[in-house]
Amino acid sequence: MKRNRLNVNIAGLQLANPTILASGILGYSVATLQSIVEGGAGAVITKSVGLKPRQGYANPTVVQTKCGLINAMGLPNPGIDEFVNEIREAKTVLDVPLIVSVYGFSEEEYALAAKKAAGAGADALELNVSCPHVKETGSEIGQNSEILAEVVRKAKAAVSKPVFVKLAPNVTDIAEIAETAARAGADAITAINTVKAMAIDAETAMPILSNKKGGLSGQAIKPIAVRCVYEVYERVKIPIIGCGGVTDWRDAVEFLLAGASAVQIGTAIATKGPNVFKTVSSGVNTYLKRKGFRSVKEIVGLSHRN
Ligand SMILES: Cc1cc2nc3c(=O)[nH]c(=O)nc-3n(C[C@H](O)[C@H](O)[C@H](O)COP(=O)(O)O)c2cc1C
Repeated sequence: MKRNRLNVNIAGLQLANPTILASGILGYSVATLQSIVEGGAGAVITKSVGLKPRQGYANPTVVQTKCGLINAMGLPNPGIDEFVNEIREAKTVLDVPLIVSVYGFSEEEYALAAKKAAGAGADALELNVSCPHVKETGSEIGQNSEILAEVVRKAKAAVSKPVFVKLAPNVTDIAEIAETAARAGADAITAINTVKAMAIDAETAMPILSNKKGGLSGQAIKPIAVRCVYEVYERVKIPIIGCGGVTDWRDAVEFLLAGASAVQIGTAIATKGPNVFKTVSSGVNTYLKRKGFRSVKEIVGLSHRN
């Protein structure tokens, strides 16, 4: 990898730049992941995959609002035994770290899915303990300290790759939950998943999503995500990956200043296309140069100084 001021190291993963594809926005295919790498992403995260295949919810699963998307996909996925083939293929094609997002309905399920993903070549795992719209997984796990700690411990014991834990904003104290994850051995925290939300159709007088409630993403949630990263940074020493509403370089810089070591981008791909990764990192590079910084690392958490 060519050395430059955009290089970052997250829990041992070397990234050419601090932009990462967020989980779930683009499905599973290796071709779409490759298009995101060509668009300039420093790493990619797959859609969340569990032990068994899941259909997900009936349509509509996504609704566009004035300020972002609300989705309740219901974690559709082919199941890890099928998905390992995609992971193996992706590893032969992609020249950036491949992070596989996993979920489960028990500690054992998270650990087994993580183990199979790592065995197929995943460079790191992201535990989705923050999906706001599927019962008995996701945020129900991420809100319960004891279960969360056990999920992280078991996943760590099952793999020798870095384990990231993706947290939900829909909690009273995200920093406390991050601390629980860090104590249990998490190598990094991703903050945040979507914010619980819903939309109602005035004509039919009914909720629009088939699942009624979903998770809001996009620009509207960025200030919430920045606040979460800021709070988590004050409590844990492990790296934080900011996620939520990153659309341009200023958003990315804001997350870095709040304490993130990198950012994930999801919803902005829908409006800006895959090149959003290049545009964001080249803007961050120009900012660093203009301000006289030699690396991304120099601005991580800079807004916390007194
Ligand atoms: C259509 C859609 C599907 C998503 N699927 C997943 C998923 O499978 N796993 C996960 O951890 N997050 C999932 N997310 C959440 C995103 O990874 C991200 O946390 C969120 O969208 C905020 O970032 P953004 O504003 O840049 O999109 C999904 C988001 C969207 C919009």
